[in-house]
Amino acid sequence: MNFPFYRPRRLRKTETIRNMIRETTLTPNDFILPLFVTFGKNVKKAIKSMPGHYQLSVDNIVKEAKEIKKLGIPAVILFGIPEHKDEEGSTAFDPAGPVQEAIRAIKDKVPGLAVITDVCMCEYTSHGHCGIIKDKDVDNDATLELLSKEALSHVEAGADIVAPSDMMDGRVAAIRDILDDNDFSHIPIMSYSAKYASAFYGPFRDAAESTPQFGDRRSYQMDPGNTDEAIREVVLDIEEGADIVMVKPALPYLDIIRRIKTEFGYPTAAYNVSGEFSMIKAAAERGWLDGDRAMMESLTAIKRAGADLILTYFAKEAAILLQKKR
Ligand code: PBG
Repeated sequence: MNFPFYRPRRLRKTETIRNMIRETTLTPNDFILPLFVTFGKNVKKAIKSMPGHYQLSVDNIVKEAKEIKKLGIPAVILFGIPEHKDEEGSTAFDPAGPVQEAIRAIKDKVPGLAVITDVCMCEYTSHGHCGIIKDKDVDNDATLELLSKEALSHVEAGADIVAPSDMMDGRVAAIRDILDDNDFSHIPIMSYSAKYASAFYGPFRDAAESTPQFGDRRSYQMDPGNTDEAIREVVLDIEEGADIVMVKPALPYLDIIRRIKTEFGYPTAAYNVSGEFSMIKAAAERGWLDGDRAMMESLTAIKRAGADLILTYFAKEAAILLQKKR
């Protein structure tokens, strides 16, 4: 394989040949689009730090869902912004909450689109933490009951998949139990298994109004320096009944995605989080880089690292670009 006999540039010469030998190609089927559902009617409130994204009321979510389906994107993941928050996050399992209403509306009007729901307390608690607070920290076991009730209420409303993102120990087992006890043994769990305590969630917390009012999430989310801990988290989640495991964020953790995909061979999701989105948008707005190319390169890298499913705020833009190329 020595130069001058072997010349790698031969296979890079034309667009056609490059297309023929490419190992990783994106399709809209790879994407899951996160949506923020709020209360009220005809609400479309721009999220400042995430250009092109909005808090939407249920009527507008349905319009959006139709468009998403047309683009060939198979699924959305819903986050709720409730009208009231309290210490216990009791609106998380309100059957008339924005997420529950949105699930029913989408399943009714856009039946072919899969509806995934984020299961977490942070959008519903007045203090912004992912569970019940005891002695200034989140009480793990007390929180499990709330998460189970929240997951059940989403599935009762028609959710196709539930996705716990709180990082409490034992949540997958607790959710699997309550679903099985209520004749929902066919509903998959996509677990945020290796979720790191990350600065890249900043814009999301604006969008979901879920910034912790005191402290941070380092007592439940993972330390960015660790990889073996991610393996242990995934083992636990698989043993507890997770069907899809997730790594989050995506770009700063491509090594973790690859390791988990290789070691477990499970359907692996990666969350290309708000900060990863906003960085590219901000740089592109300033003319510092080509936003479309940076987007496609990032998404390709996440898939190449081993992700089978990519949760991304770029889903629509990327799907539109892919359509144009065809
Ligand atoms: C809820 C949750 C968060 C994200 C998804 N689910 C925020 C957090 O843990 O603070 C972040 C998503 C993103 O940044 O795009 N716990």
